[in-house]
Amino acid sequence: MKTDVVLVLNFGGQYCHLIKRRIREEEVYAEIVPPDITPEEIRSFDDEYSVKGIILSGGPSSIYEKGAPRCRKEILEMGLPILGICYGHQLVAHYMGGDVRKGDKMEYGITEVYVDVTDTLLKGHQKVERVWTSHGDTVYEMPEEFEILAHTENCPVAAFRHRHKPLYGVQWHPEVVHTPRGKMLLRNFLFEICGCVPNWTPENFVKKCVEEIREKVGNSKCIIALSGGIDSSTAAVLAAKAVGRNLTAVFVDHGFMREGEPESIKKTFTELGMNLLVLDERKRFMEKLRGVSDPELKRKIIGEEFIHVFEKVAEESEAEYLIQGTIYPDRIESGASKHSEKIKTHHNVGGLPTEIKFKGVVEPLRELYKDEVRKIARSLGIPESIVNRQPFPGPGLAIRIIGEVTKEKIEILKRVDAIVREEIEKHEVKGSLWQYFAVLLDTKSTGVKGDARAYGYTVAIRAVESVDGMTASYAKLPHDLMERISTRITNEIPQVSRVVYDITHKPPATIEWE
Ligand code: XMP
Repeated sequence: MKTDVVLVLNFGGQYCHLIKRRIREEEVYAEIVPPDITPEEIRSFDDEYSVKGIILSGGPSSIYEKGAPRCRKEILEMGLPILGICYGHQLVAHYMGGDVRKGDKMEYGITEVYVDVTDTLLKGHQKVERVWTSHGDTVYEMPEEFEILAHTENCPVAAFRHRHKPLYGVQWHPEVVHTPRGKMLLRNFLFEICGCVPNWTPENFVKKCVEEIREKVGNSKCIIALSGGIDSSTAAVLAAKAVGRNLTAVFVDHGFMREGEPESIKKTFTELGMNLLVLDERKRFMEKLRGVSDPELKRKIIGEEFIHVFEKVAEESEAEYLIQGTIYPDRIESGASKHSEKIKTHHNVGGLPTEIKFKGVVEPLRELYKDEVRKIARSLGIPESIVNRQPFPGPGLAIRIIGEVTKEKIEILKRVDAIVREEIEKHEVKGSLWQYFAVLLDTKSTGVKGDARAYGYTVAIRAVESVDGMTASYAKLPHDLMERISTRITNEIPQVSRVVYDITHKPPATIEWE
């Protein structure tokens, strides 16, 4: 059976991605498509999926503005169920002969809506509902063949449906959490109106993905760089499921992983039956970093060195396809960051910028969000230690040592970091943290240990709460926990004489120190 899909026409609204996410949370596959998509292009989705419905998203324009995005009118006549949201609602109304004008009053934020008809789209809704709105234009009237489902004080047609065709519109935003019954409205559209089957499950995704990879690469050899993080791990396991030993997973040990991590990566992927190549390149990376203390230079050297090592193996392996763990937000970020100022060079194994001319690049996770990758990873039997691994920068501990990286400093930081992780992971506060780690500073300070003067390293502990890593607030860790961490570090690691806690939000500070 084909997977059902609902297409979301993107009119530039900031909530378009939320619509897609909400649909997928119901285990129905959804994809965002350009607003001017043609009926033929829509039908071509049926080769792979079964198109069940179309949602026209919100957007910042007024439908009367010059150059405002519009969908083709024929799309409304394809017989597929259509739901217009906000701008989409106004556009459907306009195409169908409704009266759409600039509203007497704009509606922004929480609004009370009076529900007049509670079947189909608004099934399960109360007579009065709180909804989230954001619009300047308003639909005042619809032709006779439409029925008005809801209104607000300022908006006579806040929701409508065609009397005989599956055409719906809603002025408010059901996709945002501020609309308590928004999920219900979307479920009504998906299951009652479109007749979707919730068949976009991890198992079905894996099955489809494996078939696609096999079809694309055939009997060719493939290669992937494993970082130990969830994205590259999941992509690797998926690809291995498809092509077996024809996939080589390369793990480059640059020496800056956390304590026990390289060993655990080796164990996990060997147990998963993968053709794993571990390259111990610790010496090479240390040599390249000798005398280097500038953070950007460190990042650059590690990134470039990593690519050199990987390219050499890739050439030797004669791999024709490169598998990458790129996920959807990686693609958005690289697009969106085009015009933004560079803060730091991120090194990300998920999207390796290699010069090698592969026959093709396969990105099995390119449509997925992080939480969706987690679901897939679990269904593939990837251990929780990887599924829940906190984000870890590609250059690893090298950028958590301020100043020049030395062997001694790495050893110290590994032990400090292990204590921080151990103590936090025993505590319930862990559930609310995005990241927690230690930074080894280049400032030494005086201490007293056993009646003697100690002049040792200072370490900073950083723990932050965040949703996406873009902004973060420092975590208000309980004092007894901080005390335990500090005491253990200074007792167990003689080279450290002082522990400090970083109380800076992002912005202005970044999460990592370098
Ligand atoms: P910053 O320090 O920029 O970090 O606030 C935001 C998030 O990104 C992680 N990070 C990296 N991730 N390669 C990565 O894959 C990198 O080079 C890198 N540098 C920072 C950081 O740990 C945080 O989660």
